[in-house]
Amino acid sequence: MATILSSAPLSVPSTTYSKPSPRIPLFTSLPLPSSLSSSSSSSYGVTSSFVVRNDASLSPSSSPVQALAEEAVDSSPLASSSKLVFVVGGTGGVGQLVVASLLKRNIKSRLLLRDLEKATKLFGKQDENSLQVVKGDTRNVEDLDPSMFEGVTHVICTTGTTAFPSQRWSGDNTPDKVDWEGVRNLISALPSSVKRVVLVSSVGVTKPDELPWSIMNLFGVLKYKKKGEDFLRESGLPYTIIRPGRLTDGPYTSYDLNTLLKATAGERRAVVIGQGDKLVGEVSRLVVAEACIQALDIEFTQGKAYEINSVKGDGPGSDPQKWRELFKVAESKESK
Ligand SMILES: NC(=O)c1ccc[n+]([C@@H]2O[C@H](COP(=O)([O-])OP(=O)(O)OC[C@H]3O[C@@H](n4cnc5c(N)ncnc54)[C@H](OP(=O)(O)O)[C@@H]3O)[C@@H](O)[C@H]2O)c1
Repeated sequence: MATILSSAPLSVPSTTYSKPSPRIPLFTSLPLPSSLSSSSSSSYGVTSSFVVRNDASLSPSSSPVQALAEEAVDSSPLASSSKLVFVVGGTGGVGQLVVASLLKRNIKSRLLLRDLEKATKLFGKQDENSLQVVKGDTRNVEDLDPSMFEGVTHVICTTGTTAFPSQRWSGDNTPDKVDWEGVRNLISALPSSVKRVVLVSSVGVTKPDELPWSIMNLFGVLKYKKKGEDFLRESGLPYTIIRPGRLTDGPYTSYDLNTLLKATAGERRAVVIGQGDKLVGEVSRLVVAEACIQALDIEFTQGKAYEINSVKGDGPGSDPQKWRELFKVAESKESK
């Protein structure tokens, strides 16, 4: 059985593509691990249609995602069932963990995927009340039909490609197309009713001409991520920007989730959050995923950008109060 979303008219932010995007000095994001270059999707083709699949349920205990969530996310179910989180980039390193954690929390999500088959491979078969998938490529405006956002309350965007030329740039899936045009297209298509849009960007976006960012920015990833950030800022939508340092623990895109479980048993659980683009360091993908989910519910993170690193030690896990304190501390440091 397939559920087709209705095409009820939805209000769209007034932001237009022609809105000037200020600045954009030269910079790029941190180079992605070389292993990413072999994890490309075979579905670089464009699609202009989408479907919502309604696969038969598996028992929760048989889902590798549940196992991942229990092992790696250390989360307790939260009472957030009124949410419908639209996840873009859910097949990626951070995105997979976002989806797993939402499943664990019993928060419904809808994933925009270029390759629908990946969802079953990664997350097993899930009831449509837990997980829905729609097909689309953010580079294609026509893929982002307003009807696919019906009922969406929150958005988490973790899309990206490699900072340097790789197989993942095949089919013109380059930083300018993904981190700038794709983010712009997504934001432009979102209904004004969404309560929060969390965008994963990168540390260093405001200082592309400074080392080490100047080296990383040879192909413009940071420049394009900044353009995406700015477009979101100017969209009028309630947003939070999460800027990770170099990502660790993964990527997982070449692994099944059982392998992933072993790969994620890292020690970098202590979280450092900053503001003002001053942090230089690394961060576990698990931590980034958790930060995205926590930010959805922390009111004072709206309209702000935060850098995030993780270091060895015990972390906040999924404790909302500890995350609130971490975000708050970042703000108090910045104001001094
Ligand atoms: N790696 C680092 O050190 C680092 C540092 C700072 C910030 N970041 C940023 O952190 C975020 C998460 O990184 P990650 O390594 O976890 O991501 P990742 O594994 O590279 O995943 C990228 C995701 O974006 C999706 N995507 C790419 N192009 C798309 C398109 N045209 N339309 C729709 N979806 C598309 C991919 O889908 P497919 O499965 O279809 O390819 C995949 O789900 C990214 O924004 C990245 O730039 C990374």
